[in-house]
Amino acid sequence: MNLKEEVAKASQNKQAIGHFNVANFEMLKAVLLAGQELSQEKGEHIPLIIGLSESERKFIGSRQAVVFIKSWREENNYPVFVNADHCHSFESVKEAGEDGFDSIVIDFSRLTVEENIKATKESVSYIRENFPGILLEGELGVIGEHSALLDEVPEKAVINKEQLTTVDEATMFTQETGVDYIAPAVGNIHGMLKNSYNPNLDIERIKEIKEKIKVPLVLHGGSGIRDEEMKEAVSAGMSVVHISTELRKAYSFGIKDLAGDFFVTNPDEVTPYKVMEPVIKKVQQVAKNKLELFG
Ligand code: G3H
Ligand code: ZN
Repeated sequence: MNLKEEVAKASQNKQAIGHFNVANFEMLKAVLLAGQELSQEKGEHIPLIIGLSESERKFIGSRQAVVFIKSWREENNYPVFVNADHCHSFESVKEAGEDGFDSIVIDFSRLTVEENIKATKESVSYIRENFPGILLEGELGVIGEHSALLDEVPEKAVINKEQLTTVDEATMFTQETGVDYIAPAVGNIHGMLKNSYNPNLDIERIKEIKEKIKVPLVLHGGSGIRDEEMKEAVSAGMSVVHISTELRKAYSFGIKDLAGDFFVTNPDEVTPYKVMEPVIKKVQQVAKNKLELFG
């Protein structure tokens, strides 16, 4: 089971691997169940990537989550991988290497392109030297910071054509930094708008970058995108898609629903795994629907 091979396979087949951010073990369980359920239906193992941002790692316990996921992978012989999502400093990248992640997102996209290249390069050479085998992703363009429900597009997010990642930028960044894959800004934003779909993706730009760039492409900010548009983005060349806000929403709204639903019929139920079952089911359904869209 090798993440690099799985991503290469997805890239060749114009499919995408689902990358799901989790903040606790119930969300993790829901994503694993979604993968298993769909795998059973399709008769083949659907690979999964579990993502943990810096704050999610802090909350769940970084090293413990890695050990749990890797041991689950071995026991079930299932291709699930664990990614240290959005590391915003060299220290954070180094810690992710020490904690044993399968891949690391080196995110200096808040800096200028030149500074981003310099800082990413430094992290890449440190990890290559000290933790060979970990896959490394680089980030281009500001796409907002939070996986949250939004009233409007985040102020600094780049969504106009002239601000999006260009083929030249992507080429230069990839060559200079030596990352294994890149996440360009193609109209995507972190988080999802409360009252409408997110802004449109630039499908043509994805195709142009994909044609010229050797490494696979990653789409961040996968929540709030219309299903048809998501399918287009995947066939245009996105080989990994990150989903967080839609899972968070299913989880939190699921908890809210317990009061008017589960506890009405089960007022004395106090067993956590029984109480949380309907919540887990909701998160599982969202993850499964996304996996189906990714082909
Ligand atoms: O890295 C995390 C993702 O890019 C998730 O974005 O919250 O918009 O789904 P999202
Ligand atoms: Zn992201």
